[in-house]
Amino acid sequence: MAKKKAHLLGFVQHGVNSHATGMWRHGRDKINWDWTRPPYWEHLARTMERGYFDAMFIADELAPYNNWKGSSDETVRYAVQCPVHEPSTIAPIITGATTHLGVGVTLSTAFEHPYSMVRRLSSLDHLSGGRIAWNIVSSYSKSEWDAYGADMTQRADRYGRMEEYMDLCYELWDSWAPDAIVADRDSGVFADPAKVKEINFEGEYFRCRGRSFVERSPQGRPVLWQAGSSDRGRDFAAKHAEAIFAVHPNVERMREYSNDLTERLVSKFGRAPQSVKRLYGVQTVVGQTRAEAEEKYQRIRECIPLEGALAWISGHFGLDFSRFALDDIVQNIEVPGIQGLFESIIYAKGGAPVTVKEAALIYAEGMGMPRLVGTAHDIVDQLEAFMDVGGADGFMLAATYTPGCFEEFVDFVVPELQRRGRLRTRYEGTTLRENLLAD
Ligand SMILES: Cc1cc2nc3c(=O)[nH]c(=O)nc-3n(C[C@H](O)[C@H](O)[C@H](O)COP(=O)(O)O)c2cc1C
Repeated sequence: MAKKKAHLLGFVQHGVNSHATGMWRHGRDKINWDWTRPPYWEHLARTMERGYFDAMFIADELAPYNNWKGSSDETVRYAVQCPVHEPSTIAPIITGATTHLGVGVTLSTAFEHPYSMVRRLSSLDHLSGGRIAWNIVSSYSKSEWDAYGADMTQRADRYGRMEEYMDLCYELWDSWAPDAIVADRDSGVFADPAKVKEINFEGEYFRCRGRSFVERSPQGRPVLWQAGSSDRGRDFAAKHAEAIFAVHPNVERMREYSNDLTERLVSKFGRAPQSVKRLYGVQTVVGQTRAEAEEKYQRIRECIPLEGALAWISGHFGLDFSRFALDDIVQNIEVPGIQGLFESIIYAKGGAPVTVKEAALIYAEGMGMPRLVGTAHDIVDQLEAFMDVGGADGFMLAATYTPGCFEEFVDFVVPELQRRGRLRTRYEGTTLRENLLAD
């Protein structure tokens, strides 16, 4: 059987810091780069394309976390995913600087009507020539609801609303038939109204009457991404997504997750198991020698501020961890927030007890992702095991210091992946969907 090739995504945010807390203060972070300006994003995009990545994954939140001691002070003080600028604004910069690289934009359904969501995403799909993906989220964080002046709804309610949201999005994306535009100068007819469907949607949460304002985009609709991890979230992902993200600390948990997803795809939604790519989070620290990599890893860990780490887990898990002692055991705590990511710390030590302090510090390194520290050879050995045993189709690579961590991955790890036949040596298609769904 042919070896599976890895699909790669660079996991970042439109902010000063992404998923490794404190990286902005690392000596190698953004040397001579200003993350608020286009050249930084152009360089990052070209670097990822040089490494044959499928896309840049732009994660997002809508407001600074405010669970830790009921305040966002530590979030602001320690740059805990803060500040973060609007994610879709950089998509045209990224795709303008590249030919093949896609962009996945995280946009919340919580406070935006499907009509404008579809309009924005389809416009971006046009501008990029079909290289846009949408990471569908529904705002799990209390701070987002506070910022928008709304009462936070329950998870089940959010998923029910999101199902209806998608129904309306699909209708809007299909509003313009592929041959709706006639552009006949002689008759003066630009588009055939019979081929631009009027939507008449009356749902429980949304109403919409009218036609989509955007002509059909190159991909028809953006590639749909999702990272729901609760039971309901996994069903939503299995029904709608073309790529699913998950964080599991070891290969056994990856395998379990992959089997669970296959079961849902096939038995609940009648989809082919390979119609969805399973992309797992990993964080790499590469060196010419193991000693060099270990030393780099220590430098990275030294940047983490404990209070910032505690503010982050409080934000992601929807709980004020200041209510617990630092040596309380997290396995005894129930969290209302992102369950799937909480499991990554529960199993961080193979199931052995993990204290609140350990959990915060582990999580702050890279959101609970496995950290692969070593030579390119060591790292690719592990990535191969994640694919062959864990069922991964690819990886979302969490940033440490930028753009350096991606430059190093592309310079050292990418050639080793290619040498072993585990990464493409040319892009297969022109759209993001064609590349991502390629074997
Ligand atoms: C790997 C991963 C990345 C995620 N990235 C984001 C993100 O950027 N923004 C966001 O609002 N939620 C993000 N989430 C949260 C989920 O998409 C989902 O909304 C959340 O897990 C709540 O749903 P659940 O209870 O089904 O897990 C992420 C989750 C995972 C596992």
